[in-house]
Amino acid sequence: MDKIRAMITGVQGYVPEYRLTNKELESLVETNDEWIVSRTGIKERRILKGENQGTSVMGAAAVKGLLEKTGTDPMDIELIICATVTPDMPFPAAANLIADQVGAKKSYSFDVSAACSGFLYALQLGSQFIQSGTHKKVIVVGADKMSAIVDYQDRTTCILFGDGAGAVLLEPTTEELGVMDAILKADGAGAPYLHMKAGGSRKPATAETLAAREHFAYQEGSTVFKFAVTNMAEVSAEVMERNNLTGDDIAWLVPHQANKRIIDATANRMGIGSSKVMMNIERYGNTTAGTIPLCLWEYESQLKKGDNLILAAFGGGFTWGSIYLKWGYDPK
Ligand SMILES: CC(C)(COP(=O)(O)OP(=O)(O)OC[C@H]1O[C@@H](n2cnc3c(N)ncnc32)[C@H](O)[C@@H]1OP(=O)(O)O)[C@@H](O)C(=O)NCCC(=O)NCCS
Repeated sequence: MDKIRAMITGVQGYVPEYRLTNKELESLVETNDEWIVSRTGIKERRILKGENQGTSVMGAAAVKGLLEKTGTDPMDIELIICATVTPDMPFPAAANLIADQVGAKKSYSFDVSAACSGFLYALQLGSQFIQSGTHKKVIVVGADKMSAIVDYQDRTTCILFGDGAGAVLLEPTTEELGVMDAILKADGAGAPYLHMKAGGSRKPATAETLAAREHFAYQEGSTVFKFAVTNMAEVSAEVMERNNLTGDDIAWLVPHQANKRIIDATANRMGIGSSKVMMNIERYGNTTAGTIPLCLWEYESQLKKGDNLILAAFGGGFTWGSIYLKWGYDPK
């Protein structure tokens, strides 16, 4: 029997309208546009405003658009996996709320928590359900409302993050297309450098934790930077070597958008020129699990059937990984 692979058959993104510019950040913290652009490549980020608007609202908007453009009946979706570290609430899962909002009544759904590598983890997981032959339509979402956990008094982190979501539809194929290989890694010893101090079971919310501003993302930026540069490049090189690929064979590098300097270093290590690197960090900042599907969405019209893509990410956990996939369709 032919090998079944999981192929992305559609991609859709969603970003909220509000633009938080570097200029506006200058009024919140001691920073300036020149510093932010030269150190990160970011000019603005999108922020989800409004009462009772959680991550699922953005995820659902992306999934609704995806169902529409692929002509998919929500009742045919069997599974929705949402990668996020900012679910609407600790439980239920954001994926449950998304499934409900899009009318995927026959689907089961759950979240994956792997921070900035979340979309890669969820994509690999979703593709396993397709490859095993048990599922025919799986949706993988990457969505984060980082503005909910960013401390807008901390200039070292608040300049980096934004809100956004992206979603892909996975379906089976017996062609040489789709998810070809994946290497995913994690090291919990990295937790001290990027985490949220309170609000979990170790340190539940109290008046003290609130006063100490411990319900925000805490990051030791320069340490994370060093690990990100090394590991994202290493794991991408590993997946390329394992599949006998050189930079010339790659149509697109799709890197997690954390810092333009990390992206440039990864591309250099892989021998990939900047014209083949997907980049939208300038406009969205780091949307955590949203970055990679948002890139695929924005570059979809430039992708051709059979293009070799290397997806790569590094993030809190630490978690990191790289996925090699062959794009499944020409621009529609
Ligand atoms: C956060 C980050 C942009 C900081 O850049 P950096 O070059 O490492 O800068 P440093 O942290 O060494 O700080 C350099 C100086 O700039 C200052 N600085 C930090 N943030 C600033 C800001 N927003 N505006 C102006 N100055 C700032 C620092 O206080 C420091 O000043 P000092 O030398 O007087 O102490 C960078 O470390 C980074 O991108 N890290 C990884 C982020 C990441 O990928 N996170 C998500 C997981 S994927």
